[in-house]
Amino acid sequence: MDSLDTIVSFAKQRGFIFPSSEIYGGLSSCYDYGPLGAMLKDNVKKSWWKTMVQTRNEVEGIQASILMHPRIWEASGHVGGFSDPLVDCKSCKKRFRADHLLEAKGIKPDFRPGAWLDAKIPCPECSGELTDVRQFNLMFKTQMGVIEGEGNDLYLPPETAQGTYVNFLNIQQTMRKKIPFGIAQIAKAFRNEITPGHFTFRTREFEQMELQYFVHPHNAAEWYEKWKAIKKQWYLSLGIKPESIRFRDHDENELAHYAKAAVDIEYNFPGMGFKELGGVHNRGNWDLSRHQEFSGQNHEYFDQETGEKYIPHIVENTDGADRATLVFLLNAYEEVEARSGEDAKHEKEVVLRLHKDLAPIKVAILPLSKKEPLQKLSEEIQSKLWYTYQTQYDETGSIGKRYRRQDSIGTPYCVTVDFDSLEDKKVTVRDRDTMEQERVAIDELKDYIDEKFAS
Ligand code: GAP
Repeated sequence: MDSLDTIVSFAKQRGFIFPSSEIYGGLSSCYDYGPLGAMLKDNVKKSWWKTMVQTRNEVEGIQASILMHPRIWEASGHVGGFSDPLVDCKSCKKRFRADHLLEAKGIKPDFRPGAWLDAKIPCPECSGELTDVRQFNLMFKTQMGVIEGEGNDLYLPPETAQGTYVNFLNIQQTMRKKIPFGIAQIAKAFRNEITPGHFTFRTREFEQMELQYFVHPHNAAEWYEKWKAIKKQWYLSLGIKPESIRFRDHDENELAHYAKAAVDIEYNFPGMGFKELGGVHNRGNWDLSRHQEFSGQNHEYFDQETGEKYIPHIVENTDGADRATLVFLLNAYEEVEARSGEDAKHEKEVVLRLHKDLAPIKVAILPLSKKEPLQKLSEEIQSKLWYTYQTQYDETGSIGKRYRRQDSIGTPYCVTVDFDSLEDKKVTVRDRDTMEQERVAIDELKDYIDEKFAS
């Protein structure tokens, strides 16, 4: 694959991801997740949650409100500083990020007065003249209250982190947490990106999976390394090829002024090269200090064992649910030579080698005939599985075609119910990756599948 085009059309054809508002011509860089995409993304989020929250006693999960007090975004620095440097073409009127244009020319971004104009970069589309740089705030504004103009201006959150920080005291006190502890959230974020694009890689509405870990200042560097390792292992455990990801430390230019260290985990995207997938940030005590200053609430932590009082430092572990879903799709997509026997009509077949935990459909039930005795038996078999597993019932087309269909959406197991099943009370279970088929007693099918998913 040398661009995202293959995955964009595959995702649409197979019901994973569609352009938003498509019947009205679409809405730039907004996407809807179809049935398979919604299940895949949900599985990505569940897996992240299991690793970062469910299996750690010191981490709690929350869901903060999307609409929050506007002062939060002043305290966080987003009102004053969450902006991108924007330039317009005077001829074709297209907009660009000045930092991206400079990077493409190998020039370090520098926006001191005059520096941009000195660089004399022309419009990359029409070679026209570009304007001077303006800072463009990326937050979406909305209003609360019934009469427009009389309500408070609010912002849609550009990250989940602030909703977590403003609940630090609530969680620490009600859950009786001792440092170190974490608070995680999976939620929507909104950024009015100047140059969205590359499918779901950069959109204006997206979901983040973020963990804020509160530590003693002396332990921040150690936890920064620990969360890097946990994050990498999570991606690898779900089948991401080790050579496709890498860490990239932020250099001084990129670091927020309060940050002690920051690293991106990057994925090698087709046609784009290594780009950010998630990150780990050692944010110091900036966030809680700012919310203490702006809210007037004391955010110091009192360590009862040592008698020490301090504002905890934060190590943030952040991932994008949409970017991760895209990466798992890209990583799993494989075109193979026709492998479904004599009725294979295509030279190439798609096998989506998704990790079992991520596959949207876990088991497909395929009766060999639509007729009554097989249909009834197949429905009985499905009803024994569907409380535990997402199943799909498919009775149309040849069995080879149905296997191909399931392979292409990543279904790990197909259960074929044939006429012998009526006599020997057994079904055939086919494995997506090995294509091996095994005859399994219907009474033992649930245990058999359980064992497959447990391993
Ligand atoms: N709280 C820290 C934070 O928001 P970030 O690097 O700006 O850090 C974290 O964003 C993650 O959110 C990114 O690594 C990426 O996965 C995802 N993300 C950010 N902007 C995005 C966008 N416009 N579209 C899709 N995902 C995005």
